[in-house]
Amino acid sequence: MSILRGMNVLVTGGAGYIGSHTVIELLNAKHDAIMIDNFSNSDPEVMFRIAKITGQKPKIYDGDVQDKTLLNKIFQENRIDAVIHLAGLKSVGESVKEPLAYYRNNIDCTLSLLEVLKENSVRQLIFSSSATVYGQPEALPLTETSRVGIGITNPYGRTKYMIEEILNDLLVSDPEWAIISLRYFNPIGAHESGLIGENPKDIPNNLLPYISQVAVGKLDKLKVFGNDYDTPDGTGVRDYIHVVDLAKGHVAALEQFKASDKVDVFNLGTGKGSSVMDVIQAYEKACGKTIPYEVVGRRPGDIASYYADVSKATAELNWQAQKTLEEACADSWRWQSKNPDGYAK
Ligand code: WQD
Repeated sequence: MSILRGMNVLVTGGAGYIGSHTVIELLNAKHDAIMIDNFSNSDPEVMFRIAKITGQKPKIYDGDVQDKTLLNKIFQENRIDAVIHLAGLKSVGESVKEPLAYYRNNIDCTLSLLEVLKENSVRQLIFSSSATVYGQPEALPLTETSRVGIGITNPYGRTKYMIEEILNDLLVSDPEWAIISLRYFNPIGAHESGLIGENPKDIPNNLLPYISQVAVGKLDKLKVFGNDYDTPDGTGVRDYIHVVDLAKGHVAALEQFKASDKVDVFNLGTGKGSSVMDVIQAYEKACGKTIPYEVVGRRPGDIASYYADVSKATAELNWQAQKTLEEACADSWRWQSKNPDGYAK
């Protein structure tokens, strides 16, 4: 199988947390990135930060992936070899409150993109999926053949599962497609420069940005959602993967495309589970401060323990996470302490 180099890659949601880190790794690997983002959950400032880090300012189209006219304009104005599709609403909690917005946005964006890809005869796609498609695990670690679609606890996770099913049906209809679905575990951390990082719009739902905002003084204490789970210290266990490792996983997937009669699925995690208390201790070491916390009741929909078997990505993509939880906390702290208000001036 040939290693594909020097590709022009359209990154939807390219200005976001995962997107910006992925664009940087694409440029580092001598590919070119063209971005589209509606800035609903990202900030134009990130373009200046990408330029500072890479010395390059990728082309970005300000708009919505549901806008087929805009998508066709992008394909008319650029040679696109492949697409990394990251754009989508991604808050678990918000999806429970606003299911229609999540189904409309995440499914529509994908259908519009796929129709335009087909019209422009571009059939290499990497889809940003999520470990939530596994629902309630039957066994751990989770492999790519673990059960999916059962016991998913929120509309966000269900959109990811439904899109994976749409992609499978598309491939059955036209084997010309080469599609890879990357199931992210829990992305954390930031680029080592401290210039880009996670920048949640509102009060963070996720553990790491919440802790980092406690550490920098924007929030007063962490609520630990339950310590009565069947885990080593009773708190929830997750597979926290450094966002730069995750970004490099996209480049590895891009360079290993092969035609296939089904969507190729890969877990992107570290293969290691860490508890909430492990994360608190790692963050305290990174920031040199005590993270105040209070144990409260479980959060509805939370699963006790989740972590990946990553042997398939290692074997077939020649990729493995390199960074530790401690490094991710140190990189997160550098970003947060340099940018207490994120990208806001
Ligand atoms: C992690 C652990 C909480 C916040 C979600 C999505 C998943 C992915 C990552 C996109 C759990 C505990 C959390 C807090 C806490 N996103 N926690 N206090 O729920 O594993 O996964 O984000 O792809 O798809 O489902 O991540 O960071 O919310 O929670 O105690 O204030 O931290 O109970 O054990 P989660 P999380």
